[in-house]
Amino acid sequence: MKNSITQDWWRKSTVYQVYPKSFKDTTGSGEGDIRGLIEKLDYLQDLGIDIIWLQPVYVSPQNDNGYDVADYCEINPEYGTMEDFDELAAEIRSRNMHLMLDIVVNHSSTEHAWFQASRQSKDNPYRDYYIWKDPAPDGGLPNNWQSKFGGPAWQYDEGTGQYFLTLFDKTQADLNWENPKVREEVVKLMTFWAEKGVSGFRMDVINLISKDQDFPNDDGSVLPGDGRRFYTDGPRVHEYVKEMHERVFGPYNLVTVGEMSSTTMENCILYSNPAEKEFSMTFNFHHLKVDYPKGQKWELMPYDFEQLKRLLSDWQIGMQQGGGWNALFFNNHDQPRALSRFTDDTKYRTESAKLIATTLHGLQGTPYVFQGEEIGMPNPYWNDISELRDIESKNMYQILQQNGKSADEALAIIRERSRDNSRTPMQWDDGPQAGFTSGTPWIKVDERYPSINVKQQMNDPESIYHHYKKLIALRKELQVLTDGRYIRLDEAHPQVYAYARVSEKETLVVMSNFSDREASLQLPDDFHTEYVEGGLSKLLIGNTKLEPALQAQTVLTPYASYMWIIR
Ligand code: NOJ
Repeated sequence: MKNSITQDWWRKSTVYQVYPKSFKDTTGSGEGDIRGLIEKLDYLQDLGIDIIWLQPVYVSPQNDNGYDVADYCEINPEYGTMEDFDELAAEIRSRNMHLMLDIVVNHSSTEHAWFQASRQSKDNPYRDYYIWKDPAPDGGLPNNWQSKFGGPAWQYDEGTGQYFLTLFDKTQADLNWENPKVREEVVKLMTFWAEKGVSGFRMDVINLISKDQDFPNDDGSVLPGDGRRFYTDGPRVHEYVKEMHERVFGPYNLVTVGEMSSTTMENCILYSNPAEKEFSMTFNFHHLKVDYPKGQKWELMPYDFEQLKRLLSDWQIGMQQGGGWNALFFNNHDQPRALSRFTDDTKYRTESAKLIATTLHGLQGTPYVFQGEEIGMPNPYWNDISELRDIESKNMYQILQQNGKSADEALAIIRERSRDNSRTPMQWDDGPQAGFTSGTPWIKVDERYPSINVKQQMNDPESIYHHYKKLIALRKELQVLTDGRYIRLDEAHPQVYAYARVSEKETLVVMSNFSDREASLQLPDDFHTEYVEGGLSKLLIGNTKLEPALQAQTVLTPYASYMWIIR
């Protein structure tokens, strides 16, 4: 089924990311399901969402919450049935919205039939679907690559006396993309979903699929020294992506976003410039590592505000010049809540959540809203490690202690960094379990739900929810949000991030005070003379009672954030 939609329609769209396990449960199982999402489609439509990115609902042992797929073309019974899925797809279409599925093909679950066959014997026809290596001459690991979830990236298989590669959990075996049969399988499974009428795919860690075939040891000369330089944006990755485009993305006119782990801008331009025929856009994570000392996720430091602004600006300018397209996001299911991480989630929670939104939604790219972000859900309170569920967090809790941290110190780090921060149940109302489930939720509901929930937010016209709704609508109305050239305006200001988007007809100015102290920003003289003076400026959206005019010098109260248009 080919989508009869114009090319590049997604440049004015906003995507909503659904983490199905925590979205809405209709059976009382304590886990969300597809029917729960169907129930909430009117809500997403009201918000103005165009595309729903549904995270993996395929058959899976759920060791990594569905990113360990055991059958790519069947629905996990915990989430519902294929009939439920078809109904979901039809309901989304009938609302003129689009469905984007998560495709996880860097690896599969070790429970996948391919892997089960692969591990049978060295000459099994599926052996070559995965990456098997002999032990090193001393009997040890084939090389020193590390898993992203901690520990070595190789698992030993007693039966056949070889190791298989697992860049993530030990039950997520990396597929061997060198094997044309694997690529054929991927085309087949993507075609299966495209035929069902989905509009697009989010491709999980897709820049890791091409490994350096020498599998060299990492000598540590380039940080972080864990082997990633030998498989990140690897030798044949663009060739593989082009093949998927030629065979599936292009023919079905799909919108695609590649998740790019530790990537470079040069590569992201290639991945997302339409002339290359690869993806529609890319996620990169550089701006979400500004609180990692020396790149170390599991050590704490206050975030580097200047670096955050620099990275956002560099990617705006670089991708624009290279004809690439950014997927814009501060939140997802792998990140702590930006509201808690970069701003104040207590006294200034509402201002902060709106500031995060305005700052992001003024940029060039396609914005993503992660469930709960639109109502200002902060990181939950974690009292004890037993409340956490994520495999990475649980691994790291052990590893941190093995490396000399006390249990309390390890918990303090996990509290800040755990992916579970964004995975607690969606807070729908102030009833039991925040209206998420009538049973016992698989992970706890944050205790602040009585005052932070969808019902309360929808009823308050000044809420974070309504702020998001307005920003999403603006993206469709204002061409400058799509095309405008990006100019940074804040000259390394210690509190304020300010930028403009400039087109021939109009100019947009965004200013955000990322601190709890008043700040004042002086616009650069040349910018003021050229774009502000003589034009008529109007405040489009802000987060304070004041409605300041745009001036050469603007005073911003704590966490104030504004967007003006000058015509
Ligand atoms: C990236 C996904 O976003 C994350 O949740 C997952 O654990 C890894 N890829 C492995 O699939």
